[in-house]
Amino acid sequence: MKKLHADKKIPQIINLPRHLGIIMDGNGRWAKLRGKRRIFGHEAGVLKAKEIVENSVRLEIEALTLYAFSSENWKRPAKEINGLMRLFERTIKKYTGLLIENNVRFKQVGSKDMLPKSLIRKLEQMEAITSENTGLKLTLALAYGSRQDIVKGILKIIDDVDDGRINKNQIDELTLSNRLSFSDLPDLDLIIRTSGETRVSNFMLWEMAYSEIHFTETLWPSFEDQEFFEILESYSQSERRFGSVEKETELKKA
Ligand code: IPE
Ligand code: IPE
Ligand code: MG
Repeated sequence: MKKLHADKKIPQIINLPRHLGIIMDGNGRWAKLRGKRRIFGHEAGVLKAKEIVENSVRLEIEALTLYAFSSENWKRPAKEINGLMRLFERTIKKYTGLLIENNVRFKQVGSKDMLPKSLIRKLEQMEAITSENTGLKLTLALAYGSRQDIVKGILKIIDDVDDGRINKNQIDELTLSNRLSFSDLPDLDLIIRTSGETRVSNFMLWEMAYSEIHFTETLWPSFEDQEFFEILESYSQSERRFGSVEKETELKKA
């Protein structure tokens, strides 16, 4: 596997999101439009995810989280689920070298309970091999559901209170943040959801409190570099007030 080509044109964008989350949706519809089976769309979706990871490395984004399979996606037909699990396994095998050479730190978040053993092994291997890497923090949300993650976090707090490790009166937002799967990453700055659906489908509910959200009609396998860069450019212009008011200098200019 080669290190990323330095020659690909990457725009200079100031004020990038520290943590970008992508709800990669629309693979099934993309395949159907082409008269193919849904798994064909998922395969095309993987190639798109690879491109986005490469672009994020080049742009030097700190953290990228890709929503690949939700806790609710277990409701899909067994045939699609099995195809997806095999695809995840093949993908990890195929791109481990690429991640290593590009200094990417990989993690999976989500419940491993229902994942095939062979996939769990590959995920854990990839996490171990890349754990010391200092570049892009890539997280794959696989069998992930934010509500379930929050419930787990609350149960940990209850244990810590019961065992006297923390005092009930000390509980604040950080107490929970520190017990969620994303505890080592900054909150989400920007979410992109493809395929025209304007919902968040149980993705990082706690961590998106002040995220910008960009919905696009583009189906995930058709999501091109140009659109990605435009979304980042538009994010970089946005003024995030976090509940405050515009800065005085900005007001004077208006
Ligand atoms: C997203 O694409 C991938 C997964 C949820 C696994 P979909 O499979 O949801 O594609 P659509 O939304 O049916 O087109
Ligand atoms: C959300 O897409 C989950 C992923 C992209 C992995 P879905 O296609 O599962 O979401 P809904 O069912 O349209 O809300
Ligand atoms: Mg969908």
